[in-house]
Amino acid sequence: MVDERKTIRIENYGDGITWLVLNRPDKHNAMNPTMHEEMLQALDELEADEQTQVLVITGSGEAFCAGQDLQEYFRELDNNPEKRLKISRASHQWRFQRLSHFPKITIAMVNGWCCGGAFTQLFACDFAIAAENAQFSLSEVNWGILPGGNVTKVVADCLSYRDALYYILTAETFNGKKAEAMRLINYAVPAEALREETIALAQKLMKKNPYTLRAAKEAYRAVRTMNYDQALEYLNAKSAQLKTSDPERGRETGMREFLDRKSYRPGLEPYPRHS
Ligand code: ACO
Repeated sequence: MVDERKTIRIENYGDGITWLVLNRPDKHNAMNPTMHEEMLQALDELEADEQTQVLVITGSGEAFCAGQDLQEYFRELDNNPEKRLKISRASHQWRFQRLSHFPKITIAMVNGWCCGGAFTQLFACDFAIAAENAQFSLSEVNWGILPGGNVTKVVADCLSYRDALYYILTAETFNGKKAEAMRLINYAVPAEALREETIALAQKLMKKNPYTLRAAKEAYRAVRTMNYDQALEYLNAKSAQLKTSDPERGRETGMREFLDRKSYRPGLEPYPRHS
């Protein structure tokens, strides 16, 4: 299935992986108001889509995403506060709230330029893989603004103090290898292997119980801002909830397969699903 919209494309070839592609290649996939509205709508649809087990966000052409569209998102909305409010809300919702709470695994596949506001969706995805030659740029100070819309916050969360301030203030570009070394992304691979490596990661994750993965990522994101006592309470409650709500009954299956059937070793692999 290939679903072409005005500024995005949704692809799914029946293997559980949905490719959500920012599709304004002639503008390096800069995010304009239409794209924000289309992405918000697409995430709503894909959340409930049974064909989507893993969601990959990427860009068409040479860029992942060149950030907010300076013409259509900034200049044209400067004198239109009502539309600015509506669009900036949509922009924040899809790139942060919806993506970071997306119930399925998400991977940012950074195929090229990743600038400014694009760091938000990069951070919100569960995994990020980049081409070694992809270029990252916190370009904001170069044109007189600070990295706003949560970009400074996500950079502070992802990078070390020194690296974060260095790139916020110099706006120097860095490539995929450097992004890997700074742990902004999981890993960088040669451009020609990017899609194949992304598929390999998605396939590895699709072998595991999706309800467990969902609970695990929700728990991780939630406990980051809690103290130890709160985290313990929360994790106990979350574990109890998973035990009763998991339609796969993963906990029982996992124990039965290891203890009784001796069919797998949890230290090395997931239990065989649908056994
Ligand atoms: N907003 C609007 N148009 C853009 C943007 C953008 N963020 N980025 C690229 N484009 C457009 C260019 O204007 C150009 O359009 P045109 O052919 O109609 O003139 C087209 O995309 C290609 O861009 P070039 O600049 O010609 O591509 P090049 O490969 O030489 O440079 C680079 C790539 C370095 C990414 C450059 O396009 C650039 O600096 N873009 C702006 C990046 C940026 O600062 N983004 C905003 C961050 S701040 C934020 O997101 C809040």
